[in-house]
Amino acid sequence: MPDPISRKRHMKKVLDRWENEGGSLPVGQTKPSASISSDHKTERIRPMKIVPHKRETTNANTLHHTHNDLPAQMRADIVPILNARLADAIDLIHQGKQAHWNVKGRNFIALHKLFDEIVAAAEEHMDLIAERAVQLGGTAEGTIQIAARRSELEPYPLEISDEQDHVAAMSAALAAYGKRMRQAIDQSDELGDKDTADMFTEISRGADKYLWFVESHQDREAHTARKRKAG
Ligand SMILES: [Fe+2]
Repeated sequence: MPDPISRKRHMKKVLDRWENEGGSLPVGQTKPSASISSDHKTERIRPMKIVPHKRETTNANTLHHTHNDLPAQMRADIVPILNARLADAIDLIHQGKQAHWNVKGRNFIALHKLFDEIVAAAEEHMDLIAERAVQLGGTAEGTIQIAARRSELEPYPLEISDEQDHVAAMSAALAAYGKRMRQAIDQSDELGDKDTADMFTEISRGADKYLWFVESHQDREAHTARKRKAG
């Protein structure tokens, strides 16, 4: 992916070339602030309306050409929502592995397997979200580095091993994950992209199912007794 400076240069070149080739705007329209470009085609869009995470720059306002009939502006607005939730899915994959590897207790084998099922589900979510971004002409931004910066999940505790602590930590992670996916359903729906809203609905339903599975291993008495013993 080009860095922001070379992307800016690229955008300037595209605009300059477009102007040199006699490009003109309809009456009342000003010079666009962003372009959707491929080698031979340039569409113009307004700046994005929704920026779910202001901490990161995104290249989502530069879209690849596609015959997809959803409006370019809608697609440009949806891609950053997808990339924000992609970061959460990538984070959940690694949180699940952390729990899978380190859990100890009487229910070890059940939880060890359950946490790996959560990893597999989150991997499927990751793929669905990333590929939707690309289908809409965007770029899936899914490196570990960017996911670590963007994820809105709490960091998974590294020092725990007791199964009840992992049950509590994984329940919190799944609840936060489901909540973010539900917010994305509403955002996609408001923008009019029912397919993306449907995809997030499927993902949030899966998160709720695994939250139920994990919470069913809660043993409040054991958890409280252990905490009391630890002082
Ligand atoms: Fe394993």
